Formats: sequence, C-alpha cells, structure tokens
Amino acid sequence: MEWDQATCYLNGQWLPLAEARVSVLDRGFIFGDGIYEVVPVDTVDSVRAPFRAVEHFARLSRSMAAVRIDNPHDDSQWLALLSQLIERHPWPRQSVYLQVTRGVAKRDHAFPRGVSPTVFAVSSPWQVIAGEQLEQGVAAVTHADERWLRCDIKSVSLLGNVLMRQFALEHDAAEAILLRNGRLTEGSSANVFVVRAGRLAAPAKDHLILPGITYDAVFDIARAHGLACDVRPLAEAELRAADEIWLSSSGREILPVTRLDGTAVADGRVGPLFRQMHAWFQEAKRSDALLWRERMQQFPRAA
Ligand code: PDD
Repeated sequence: MEWDQATCYLNGQWLPLAEARVSVLDRGFIFGDGIYEVVPVDTVDSVRAPFRAVEHFARLSRSMAAVRIDNPHDDSQWLALLSQLIERHPWPRQSVYLQVTRGVAKRDHAFPRGVSPTVFAVSSPWQVIAGEQLEQGVAAVTHADERWLRCDIKSVSLLGNVLMRQFALEHDAAEAILLRNGRLTEGSSANVFVVRAGRLAAPAKDHLILPGITYDAVFDIARAHGLACDVRPLAEAELRAADEIWLSSSGREILPVTRLDGTAVADGRVGPLFRQMHAWFQEAKRSDALLWRERMQQFPRAA
C-alpha cells in the first residue's frame, strides 16, 4: 500500500485520504491555529507498537491546554484512535500524524464561540533510517533561531522551522541547528545533544525548545546506564568544540552529526557514545513494545 492509499480519520469519520476535505475557513488553514503530534510506530520482535504513546498524548494535551483548545478526546480515546490507525495499515513502520485545530469559523483573530475543533489523523509508511546516516553521520548547519518564544507548544504554525530546514537542505545539510543569543536551542525539527569528555548535555526544556519525547527517552536511557548527564545552557562555542553532536526526533530516532557548517565534528567520525546510545535506544523500544502489547491485551477494544 502506498502512503496516499491510507485511510484517515477526520472528525469522527474514517475515509480515504484523497477524499478527506476541510473548509478553507478552518483556522488551521487561515491562522495556523492548531497543534499536532507525530508518533513513531515500529515492529520490534514481531510486535508492532508506537514508541512512548502515552507521553505523546500527554504532550498533545499540554499543547491544547497551552493554546486553549478543548481536548475533544480523553487519553483512552486517543490511544484507541492510534491503535486503529496502526491496524488499518500494513506497514511495519509507520509515522502517525495527529492534528487538532480550533475549527471552522468566519475569519477573525479572536477565538470563535461554539465551534468544535477539527481532528485529523493519518498514518504513513516510515522509512528505515538509512544505514549510511548511522555509519557516516549527517551534516548540519547553524542558523539564527528566528522562531517565536513558545517553541514548547507543538503548533502547526511551523513557518520558521520550514524556512530553516529549507536553508539546511540548500546548504547540503540534513538539519539546521539553531542558536538564540549565542546559545544552542534545538534543530528545525529535532532536539540536539552535545557530548563532551564523556558527558551528555542538552538545553533545558523551557519555552525555547520543543520538549521532545525522544529527548526524554535519551536522557532516561542515559541515566539508567549511569552516563553523566547535564541539562544546562550550551554556548555556541561548546557546540563547536563538541566530541559528538546528536539529533533526536520521532522520525529520526537519534542521528549523529559529523559535520557542522562544513567542518568536521571532532575527528568527523561517528562517536562511541552515539553507537552505545543507539543500541540502548533499540533495547528501550523493545521494552516499550512489550508494554504496548500488554496494554492492548488488557484493553482489546482499543485495538
Ligand atoms: N518534529 N524539536 C522540534 C522543533 C521538532 O519539530 C521535533 C519533532 C522535535 C523532536 O520531538 P520528538 O522527539 O517528540 O519527535 C524537537 C516532528 C517529528 C515533526 O514535526 O515531524
């Protein structure tokens, strides 16, 4: 099945993606007035499972609260929707996209009254992460972080992120690493970690970065294995002097950055800590998949 043959969910209905329609007055279209989530699904030991699904829905809920959209579903309804999206598609690896906008109304900046949110969800095949990216690493370029000051909200208003990612691609790089006031924030669509002298560091989850589900997983895994971790501001100079730089996101899991602005990161090779973390991360996915299977056995109606 190709991605465009998917069945999607729109406001309580299941229909072919090509037939799904929303009004041109939807506030997501007019104002970018909505929020979203991306949940990765992989098959581990023949269990097809989302990674950290509960955490994704907690963040979805936080994003809605932050922009004052009433959450149209409780957690078990969201989990049921997620499991149906997975089941309706044959792909062993899926990327599930969920979006909630403020709804359809006459154009006016102020919130409309009596309007229901638009809920849209679709799954698409998620490509295996290229072995070459894991073996050789990827290139990144730095860019001024020109986004608004509420980057903690997973908003569909992604113009800044879009422009910066395009900048990266046009400079032969896989990601733009963003700097605000001389400090690292994150990537255009990923969190960023720095390794120096065996310690793993990343900026705090404040309003300047998206609180990544993968970011939390990486720190949880690192701490569980006794790795020294620091959550602290990182100056541009520290980024440039790093032994290793990693990207983390639901779509890329963790990826090593081996070139920054055209210069090698340390010796330009993928670092030992990355290799270790990558292996630990795959183990973490395995345990998470088993938990999902147990949950589905307990609540078969959700599946
Ligand atoms: N992006 N920071 C930004 C700006 C992001 O857009 C993302 C993810 C992340 C990583 O978050 P997580 O680990 O929860 O995926 C950090 C998604 C995948 C996207 O927009 O497609």
